[in-house]
Amino acid sequence: MTDLDGQHAMAHWLASPDAGAALGAAARAAASHPGDPLAAAAALRRQLPALEPGQASAALEQAQLRHLAHERYGLTGDLLLTRDGLEQATRPAVATRRARLIARSGAGHVLDLTAGLGLDAMAFVDAGLSVTAIERDPATAAFLAHNCPAARVLCADATDPALLATLLAELGPADVVFVDPARRDPAGPRDAASGRALPERDPARWSPPWPFVQGIPHDRVLAKVAPGFSPPAGWHAEWTSVDRTLLECAVYSWPAFTAPRRAVLLTHGSLTVIEPDPAAAPLPVADHSATWLHEPDPAVVRAGALTALAALDPGIVRFDDDSTWLTSDQPSAGPAARSFHINAELTGSPRQQRRQLADLGVRRATVKSRDVDVSPRAVLRELGLAEGPEHVLVLTRRAGRVVTLLTEPSAARSG
Ligand SMILES: C[S@@+](CC[C@H](N)C(=O)[O-])C[C@H]1O[C@@H](n2cnc3c(N)ncnc32)[C@H](O)[C@@H]1O
Repeated sequence: MTDLDGQHAMAHWLASPDAGAALGAAARAAASHPGDPLAAAAALRRQLPALEPGQASAALEQAQLRHLAHERYGLTGDLLLTRDGLEQATRPAVATRRARLIARSGAGHVLDLTAGLGLDAMAFVDAGLSVTAIERDPATAAFLAHNCPAARVLCADATDPALLATLLAELGPADVVFVDPARRDPAGPRDAASGRALPERDPARWSPPWPFVQGIPHDRVLAKVAPGFSPPAGWHAEWTSVDRTLLECAVYSWPAFTAPRRAVLLTHGSLTVIEPDPAAAPLPVADHSATWLHEPDPAVVRAGALTALAALDPGIVRFDDDSTWLTSDQPSAGPAARSFHINAELTGSPRQQRRQLADLGVRRATVKSRDVDVSPRAVLRELGLAEGPEHVLVLTRRAGRVVTLLTEPSAARSG
């Protein structure tokens, strides 16, 4: 038996009723020995002495992954998970919102061509849609069938032309083909620190590749893509951030919403949709030194919706043509920008700046330096600071020169 056959056999065992007792016992063992896998393994052995070592470690791994999925995404229940699958899975809040949007658009059926562990497929089912879910990897497909029993699951290559033609023929015009291509190759290179498979930046090398997705002969194709992806002409796109972290872009082959681009912000559970106003003039550049800097949500930046912020925060302007920061004389009132009060501008050599910081009693700071080609760690080292949240040093550009602004987050000021 090859390693791969062994993995598939283990996945099928985990998905079978035979594994129920082992999974339950592993969950109890892991819960009574948090952070101590050796003690958890010994406790599981005591509970189920006849369990094979391979099955014991697979059951304990599920307990660990379920704990991680709960902590990170609030997932509960007896889902079967893999580390790679979990890392590629759509966040439940994002999947739920998208699935409801699809259900409201008149679709009755979703053909999910790359279903993975089934996080999107589960959301489609919960939104009342019927789902056909394809997954190429047999072990993942076994978990998918377990996680999403209401879906019709096929373990197959979605790019198989005969299979695709058969499945597309089952769809009505308002039904949706959903594709979430694998952008990390589990067998490819991994990041040394995190162990995660490295993301593939070239869409032609995703699985399935972008040209395949774009060529699917159906009126409604919806794809989840990397946030840096440039949507093709004619496709609508929305960028989603959760608590200000840009997570994904979704592209729709049909006019799914009014504006062709928009930002979706999920902040502490509440939803804000921001659409660029095509008639609005670009935000002007500041002509005076204002007291607040604003960091727009990355989804708003990617959707090109900065002008829409002027409606939410009157008086907001750009800090400079070469700066990603906005500025005004009051903190932002909305969820689309995070505000920082400018306490001082540091000037002179790094030594002089060190002295200014010492005079102001600043010993710890966070550095935001994306407008300038320098690493935050190097800035902290040069200025003799430790990392800390109380102060934020913003390195940006004004009139062609780098400026260093000592700021304080608005939450810290009001809190
Ligand atoms: C990004 S993951 C999908 C995650 C899923 N949307 C979720 O939220 O759980 C992509 C999945 O597509 C599968 N895949 C890649 N190429 C495929 C193909 N040609 N046919 C079917 N599945 C494929 C991979 O094995 C992987 O599990």
